[in-house]
Amino acid sequence: MKQTRKRLAILSIPFACLLVASGAGKVLAEGDPDTDPALAPLPMPIPAPPDNPITAAKVELGKLLFFDPKLTGDASLSCGDCHDPKQGWGFNDPISRGYPGTVHWRNTHTAVNTAYLGKLFWEGSVGSLEKQAPAANKGALAGNGENDVMEARLRQTPYYVEKFKEIMGTDLPMLGDAWMLIATFERGALTQKDSPLDRYLNGDKSALSETAVKGMKLFTGKANCIECHNGPMLSDEKYYNLGTPRPIEFEEMGLNTISYRWENYAKGVYEKYYREWKDDAGLYYTSKRLKDAGKFRTQPLRYLIYTAPYMHAGQFFTLEEVIDFYNEGGGDNEFTDGTHGYNNKTPILKPLDLSDEEKEALVVFLEEISGEEIKMAVPEVPSYGVMPDVPTLTQAQAKRIGMDIYLNSIGKN
Ligand code: HEC
Ligand code: HEC
Repeated sequence: MKQTRKRLAILSIPFACLLVASGAGKVLAEGDPDTDPALAPLPMPIPAPPDNPITAAKVELGKLLFFDPKLTGDASLSCGDCHDPKQGWGFNDPISRGYPGTVHWRNTHTAVNTAYLGKLFWEGSVGSLEKQAPAANKGALAGNGENDVMEARLRQTPYYVEKFKEIMGTDLPMLGDAWMLIATFERGALTQKDSPLDRYLNGDKSALSETAVKGMKLFTGKANCIECHNGPMLSDEKYYNLGTPRPIEFEEMGLNTISYRWENYAKGVYEKYYREWKDDAGLYYTSKRLKDAGKFRTQPLRYLIYTAPYMHAGQFFTLEEVIDFYNEGGGDNEFTDGTHGYNNKTPILKPLDLSDEEKEALVVFLEEISGEEIKMAVPEVPSYGVMPDVPTLTQAQAKRIGMDIYLNSIGKN
């Protein structure tokens, strides 16, 4: 008996250590049976894939490409037109502008701090900034560009020919490299390196006001935001249906309805659902599982004061409205209210019973952690050059060997 107890005691030492280790940095919210990762500062250095490291020269060239309309269908809008530095590196209409002649169907995210996201877009459908950039500039409601046309425009811009050769080491600009450079610009220039939240979590207790600290305690406690908004980006990158209401645009604006219906069609929704649905089905479009209808990625909350309105179709104009929504336990849409015979609403949301003062403290916390605005003047982009006159060059030759190499070979460059 004695011996067994001793052995148990020995065994329990490493076990206890394990518990402490795995519990380190975790926060237990009130009435919450599990533990969630704590809020954390943005890890430095800025993460980048091994085949696309951040360098100052790449950030500079990527900046030009981010603001250059050559990389869209009719060369009339750039990433920067929908991700405007003056609109929180997003677009302040509830639903974004679209490619000329269209409107989008969702709210524009900010491009700030996206280096830290593993799942991009409201339904988390793209896994890297390198893949996100072409998805945007080829997507019908955004850039609507064709690969060969966009690439040809870069190749007909002497400054780009020179810079791509110098920085990327290719004889002619390659479109794939353009997406790498844009991703590098986002990582290198649009990361908030030292926000008040980072400073506070790194030990500078004066970085947040007393009210904001109270708000943070509510965020991680009574209001249970930490359940989903946790870690360095204040997002668990999981998906939930909060019952975010249908945007009025889907019902009242013809062009928005067309975009919504077109997206459902293009994303391969079954005809029955295509005919019945009126709300954005979010994650369903990627997973095609009904239990995912109306679920969206938990949003990062680091740059909020610059990026109103909020939610996937800008349903709420102010942070006060967002807090009221959560205080009531979320809302309803057609995937939660039984219209189709099921309810996908997350059971996590419950009425919070927050006082006016508590609501205000939460708002102050979210406002203060937004930090300094990342300001940038929109650069002038390089212009096209006149191509040298080469009457004997056929299109097939140009495509096969590249204009520069051909010109060199006949001594005309
Ligand atoms: C016509 C407007 C428009 C253009 C042009 C555009 N975007 Fe976007 N962007 C949006 C919208 C709207 C979303 C959200 C779309 C969604 O989730 O379905 C978005 C989402 C994103 C995201 C995801 C951020 C997150 O939190 O997941 C990034 C990054 C981004 N855009 C960068 C770019 C880049 C880089 C370009 C140019 C290559 C670009 N965008 C061009 C409107 C635009
Ligand atoms: C169950 C998980 C969950 C909980 C709990 C939760 N959120 Fe969210 N939050 C989300 C999701 C998912 C979205 C995006 C929903 C959408 O667009 O329909 C979101 C969006 C937001 C947005 C909008 C961000 C933007 O850029 O548009 C804010 C602000 C926000 N939440 C704050 C909070 C606060 C404050 C709390 C606590 C009172 C909280 N959230 C609790 C999952 C959650």
